[in-house]
Amino acid sequence: MAKQEYKIAPSILSADFARLGEEVDNVIKSGADIVHFDVMDNHYVPNLTIGPLVCEALRKHGVEAPIDVHLMVKPVDRIIPDFAKAGASYITFHPEASEHIDRTLQLIRNEGCKAGLVFNPATPLDYLDYVLDKLDMILIMSVNPGFGGQSFIPSALQKLRQARKIIDDSGLDIRLEIDGGVKVDNIREIAEAGADTFVAGSAVFGARKAEDPNDYDSVIRAFRDELAKAG
Ligand code: DX5
Ligand code: ZN
Repeated sequence: MAKQEYKIAPSILSADFARLGEEVDNVIKSGADIVHFDVMDNHYVPNLTIGPLVCEALRKHGVEAPIDVHLMVKPVDRIIPDFAKAGASYITFHPEASEHIDRTLQLIRNEGCKAGLVFNPATPLDYLDYVLDKLDMILIMSVNPGFGGQSFIPSALQKLRQARKIIDDSGLDIRLEIDGGVKVDNIREIAEAGADTFVAGSAVFGARKAEDPNDYDSVIRAFRDELAKAG
């Protein structure tokens, strides 16, 4: 994996929602690549967050970076066109939340977005067997979905290695994203297991300092320094 391919995707779940546009501007200015946008419905997961209106508001605010919409909702299909219209770049969903996974993947691409499947810690990768050609992203959860600030579940490393092999053997252009408990002190090991896209919520926005709440340079630089050491 070429090191310049690594992408950092702050999860806005841990941002200051009262200043969301500014927070997103600041992490991008500090060198983050992708805005990770966690959508929770108090049904598929026991928490409630943000919807297409907020995605649209970020675009209207001037955010140009890719927006990576992680749907933790059930059902998924009804809301996909709304997120496409709101400016989503990627839309990923959990296979357990869709009755017809292949159809949902096609729907996302037909709406002009990149499509991805998300694997919970106990979900096997078998869902990939027949839909690999319809994927732009595979997202491995290293926590159970629903909340920021949880600890990284180590078995995700083995799943990353398996997914990396599947992607490389296929020759397809598919990003391999990790989500949950990513910190400066474990990102290198995660990269070495095969991830190329790193969601980090509490590690990024938790680095906010009272004296300079606009400065995310040092935490993003710390991630990049660790990634540069990955073999
Ligand atoms: C959990 C979300 C994650 C979460 C990551 O359901 O999908 O994106 O915000 O937060 P941290 O980095 O704090 O584990
Ligand atoms: Zn997420």
